[in-house]
Amino acid sequence: MKDKSKIIENFRSKINELKDHNKFYFSDDNPKITDAKYDELKKNIFELEKKYSFLKKLNLTKNLVGTTPAKKFKKIKHLKPMLSLSNAFNNEDMNDFLKKVKNFLNYKDINIELFSEPKIDGISATLVYEKGILKRGLSRGDGLVGEDILENLKTISKIPKEIKDKDVPNLLEIRCEIFISKTDFQAIKNNFANPRNAAGGSLRQKDPNVTSKIPLKYFAYGFGAIEPMKFSTQLEFLKKIDGWGFSTNPLSTKLKDLAQIEKQHKKIDNLRSTLDYDIDGLVYKVNDLKLQKRLGNTSNAPRWAIAYKFSAEKASTKIRNITIQVGRTGAITPVAKVDPVNVGGVVVSNATLHNEDEIKRKDVRIGDTILIQRAGDVIPQVVSVDLTNRKKDSKKFIFPDKCLCGSPTKKEFSKTQKKEDAVRRCVKGYECNFIAKEKLKHIVSKEALNIEGLGKKVVEQFWDLNLIREPSDIFKLDFDKIKNLEGWGELSIKNLKSAISKSKIISLERLIYSIGIRHIGQENAKVIAAFFISIKEFSQLFKKDKIDNILKNLAELDGIGETQVESIKNFFSDVTNTKITRNLINQLLVNNYSIKNKTGKFSNKRLMFTGGFENMSRSEAKSLVENNGGKVLGSISKKLDILVVGNSKPTKRKLDQAYKLKIKIIFEKEWNKILNS
Ligand code: IVH
Repeated sequence: MKDKSKIIENFRSKINELKDHNKFYFSDDNPKITDAKYDELKKNIFELEKKYSFLKKLNLTKNLVGTTPAKKFKKIKHLKPMLSLSNAFNNEDMNDFLKKVKNFLNYKDINIELFSEPKIDGISATLVYEKGILKRGLSRGDGLVGEDILENLKTISKIPKEIKDKDVPNLLEIRCEIFISKTDFQAIKNNFANPRNAAGGSLRQKDPNVTSKIPLKYFAYGFGAIEPMKFSTQLEFLKKIDGWGFSTNPLSTKLKDLAQIEKQHKKIDNLRSTLDYDIDGLVYKVNDLKLQKRLGNTSNAPRWAIAYKFSAEKASTKIRNITIQVGRTGAITPVAKVDPVNVGGVVVSNATLHNEDEIKRKDVRIGDTILIQRAGDVIPQVVSVDLTNRKKDSKKFIFPDKCLCGSPTKKEFSKTQKKEDAVRRCVKGYECNFIAKEKLKHIVSKEALNIEGLGKKVVEQFWDLNLIREPSDIFKLDFDKIKNLEGWGELSIKNLKSAISKSKIISLERLIYSIGIRHIGQENAKVIAAFFISIKEFSQLFKKDKIDNILKNLAELDGIGETQVESIKNFFSDVTNTKITRNLINQLLVNNYSIKNKTGKFSNKRLMFTGGFENMSRSEAKSLVENNGGKVLGSISKKLDILVVGNSKPTKRKLDQAYKLKIKIIFEKEWNKILNS
C-alpha cells in the first residue's frame, strides 16, 4: 500500500510538471524543455496510467492538452499586411477620430456613416479562397509574414472549405478572429491562463487532430485582398459573406454620429458579461469602402477604423512591498508588490508606480490599500490609494537614491520639455549589471538580432551562469556547458546554434536599432541607416575627430532632432559603449542599407505642395504621393522635382522660387488628371 501511495504521488508530480510545461509553452511562449523531453514526459504519464488501473480511476489525464508543441510552421508572406488598430478610450478620442477622418477627406459638414462591431479578444487569422476554394490559412505573424496554420483552421467546422456561388470573387481573403467560448474554456482552463491563450495554443498544435479537440470558434470581420472587388460597404460585405456560410457577429450595426457611438458603446458594455466570448471594446469603421480606400493607413494602422476600448478592469488590493526595476536605459521604475488579486480574469501581483514623482503625488505607502487597473496587454497600474484604510503608523515611502547596482541615480534635464525629467536613472551603462542584462534582452529581441530560442528568460539564465556579459558573447557561447543544463537537449542546442548563426547577417538599420542608443527607435534607425548606407561609413562615428562633423549632418535629417543627436554623441563618447559595439560589429556581417525603390506614378520623384485642393486634404495628397513611390519635401531646393499648386491660396514666394530653379510646376487641374490616369 505504501507503494501505491508513492506511485500516485509520483504520477501527480509528473502531471503537474507537464502542466507547468504546457503553461511555459502555450501561455508564456517560453518553453523550458526540448520537444523530445516533453514527449517523453507525456509518454511516461500515459504508460503509468496504463500500467496501474488505480491511476486511471483518478481521472487526472482527461484535460491534459497533449502533443508535441511545434513552433515551426511554414512562413508565408501576406497578400496584404495585417495591421493593428489605433485605440480610443473615451468620447473625446472618438471625436478626434471623426475629425481626423473628415479632415483627411476634406469633408466639412457631411456626416460619415460608421459601422460598429465588437472587438473579439482572440487570435487573428486570414483565409485565402481562390475561385471559392479555401487554399491558404495564415496566422498574423508579424503582420507581413504569417504562419501556415491551414490544416488547423480547417478543423473549425464553421469555416467554409468551399464557397459555392458564382458571385464569389476569384480571389477572396477573409480576415477573422479565432476564439474559444467562455463555456468551452471551463473544461480546459487548467492548462491555460485565459481563453485567448488557449485559442493560440490550440492553433499552434502540430497535430490538427489535437486542434480539433479544442472547440474553436471564429467571427469574420474584414477582408484582405479581393479581386475583383464587388462590395461597396462593410455592411454589404458582411451580409454577403454571412450568406456564404461565414460566422459574422450579430451585434454589429450602422451608426452616424457621436451620440449614437456612445449609446452603442454603453449598450454592448452592459451586454459584455452575458456574452459567451471575450470582447475588449468595439471597432468603429468607416462603412463606405471607397472612403476606406481613400483613407488608407499609416505605417501600422488603418485611418478608417479605431478600437474604442471598454474602460479598464479595476480591483482593490494591498501593497506588500515597493521594489524597483532597472530598465535598459537605466530608468528606475518603482513596482508595487501586491496581494494577488483577480482583475478581470487575470491574477495580478505586481503593478507599476511609474516613477518617483508619481509615488510622491499619490503618496503611496507600503501597507496601503489601493485600487489597481489593467487594460488589455498593458502592465497593471496603481490608480489610487484608499486613505480611509491607512494605518496610523504608516510611513512615507522614501525613494531609494541608489540603483540596484549601488551606483547613484539622477534625474536628467529635458531640453525639449524644459524641465527636470520625472524618471530617475542609474548613472552607469554596461557597468551596471542590471542595465547590461536588460540591454542584452533588447539585443536578442524580435526587432533587433531576432534570435529565436534566446528569449528574456534564457538571457537571465546565461547571465547567472556567467556565460554572457556583452552582446558579442552570444557568438562565443560555450555549448559544452549549456549541454549539461536542465532543459537543454541536443535539439534545442542545434536550434539555438542555427538561430545565432542566422542572426549574424544583419541589415544596417537593424544593427543601429540593436545597439540600443537611447531615443533611436526603429524609425530613426532607418533614417540614420539611409544616411550612412554602409557599416564602414557608420563606423566613422567611432572617430573622435570626425564625429562632430557627422552629427551636424545628422541633425539635418528629417526625424532626427537635438535629443537624438545628443544621445548619439553621448553613446559614442562612452568608452565602454564603443568597445562593446565594436566587439559586436566584429562578429556580424552588416549588409548595406538598400534603398527600396517603390513603383508608381511618382516613383523616385520628390514633390512639394502649396495651396489647398478642392477635393482632398493635404494629408491625402501626401499619402497618395507616398503610396505611388514618391516623397514629399517641406522646402524648395534643387532636389525638388515637382511643385504642385492647389487653387486655394498658394504661396507666391514658393512659386517664384520654383520658377527660378526651373522646377516643374503643375496646377490642381493637371494634378487631378494625373491621379485619375
Ligand atoms: S478590423 C487592423 N474588426 O483586433 C485592420 N479587428 O487590434 C482592421 N479584431 O488584428 C481590423 N475583432 O485581429 C477588426 N471586429 C473586428 C475585430 C478586429 C477583433 C482584432 C484583429 C486585429 C486586431 C487589431
